Amino acid sequence: MSNKPDPASIADFRTAARRALPKMVFDFFDGGAGSELTLRENRAALDRIRLVGSAPVDVGHRSSAITLFGKPLTMPVIIGPTGLAGAAWPAGDQALARAAGRTGIPFVMSSAASATMEAVAATGEGRRWFQLYLFRDREVSLRLLKHAETLGFEAIEITVDNAVPGRRLRDARNGFSLPFRWTPRKLLSLAAHPAWALRMARAGAPRLEVMAAEFDLKSARTIAEVMEQQLDPTVSWDDIAFIRDRWKGPLILKGLLDPKQGIRAAELGLDGIVVSNHGGRQLDGAVASIDMLPEFVSAVGSKLAILVDSGFRSGTDIAKALALGATAVQVGRATLYALASGGEDAVFRALAIIAAELDVAQAMMGAPAIADLRPSGLRLSPRLMHAEQVPVRDPMSSRSQPPFAA
Ligand SMILES: Cc1cc2nc3c(=O)[nH]c(=O)nc-3n(C[C@H](O)[C@H](O)[C@H](O)COP(=O)(O)O)c2cc1C
Repeated sequence: MSNKPDPASIADFRTAARRALPKMVFDFFDGGAGSELTLRENRAALDRIRLVGSAPVDVGHRSSAITLFGKPLTMPVIIGPTGLAGAAWPAGDQALARAAGRTGIPFVMSSAASATMEAVAATGEGRRWFQLYLFRDREVSLRLLKHAETLGFEAIEITVDNAVPGRRLRDARNGFSLPFRWTPRKLLSLAAHPAWALRMARAGAPRLEVMAAEFDLKSARTIAEVMEQQLDPTVSWDDIAFIRDRWKGPLILKGLLDPKQGIRAAELGLDGIVVSNHGGRQLDGAVASIDMLPEFVSAVGSKLAILVDSGFRSGTDIAKALALGATAVQVGRATLYALASGGEDAVFRALAIIAAELDVAQAMMGAPAIADLRPSGLRLSPRLMHAEQVPVRDPMSSRSQPPFAA
């Protein structure tokens, strides 16, 4: 029996994940691109925003439920697409899908998943979306699209902030490769994490199952090389229109930071967008997603669903995005940390923690329903800056009604 206390926050799950995983695997999940400025900025930008309580308001009956694309969610949270989840826990993609299903929220399966689409589709009642990459070989993308339809995936998210792979320095320094290669130093790290090593030995080393079924991945040594070889840097809006013609269900574009992209997406008849910098893993120095959210809301908030991700680690963070007008928030690492620390049940607990934190925020902010969370319940902290943080423009200045007005 472990005498470690149960994780009570996503930060606790991160600590548990760091303990559970060999360093190079933890770094793959945890790390960002370049100097990790954007990785830090995602957090700093959320931390700058503070909540304004508004008691007494009758909050005796509260609900975080919303309807998205005509279906109910128990809370406005979605598990976003993350590749190679099987490196955190055997059958990690299925565990994430099941935990999302038990919670009553969607799970987005990645094109870089370490499970087949059939395996994820077979995880039961939950709602599943599929994240599509536009590969150089478009036939492959179209095949995956068709497959997603046949297997009952409800929505498609096309990720567009991957013209080239991000420069992830931790992975480069650690020699993170697929299949894993164990140098003497890494073997020491492996020996220090025997439970993970045993789980992986039993389950077999994780592979990019969806992509391995379509491509010969042997010549690529790293995930970055796989992505460089297969992802198409010529993708343009014409390709998005092409997919729109072929997918009748909800179609979402992921990886937008410029509201002009949101306007274009709405013109092409997309159903949603994800304002995202890919969790700081692509363009180091990119602006924090939360800082761009208000501009998207004023540009296209009435036209399509506005999802946002990058840096969200609590229900309180999520309340901030909802108050700024987001329809829902996607999480990446928050549930990956939990997955690494204890599989499906840990992910379920992490989502319950997020739900409880969101409920507390609603209660204290006088918001019995999600729609009651308003920009007027937010302020920018007067003591804005973390020591290492670069100054940024007041993100709310473009809104017609300044949300931080006194
Ligand atoms: C380990 C890892 C793998 C990821 N793989 C993908 C992927 O295959 N496709 C994709 O669109 N986004 C991928 N992402 C980005 C996430 O969908 C999401 O944008 C990001 O994790 C949000 O930031 P957060 O981790 O701070 O929540 C990945 C993120 C991580 C951490």
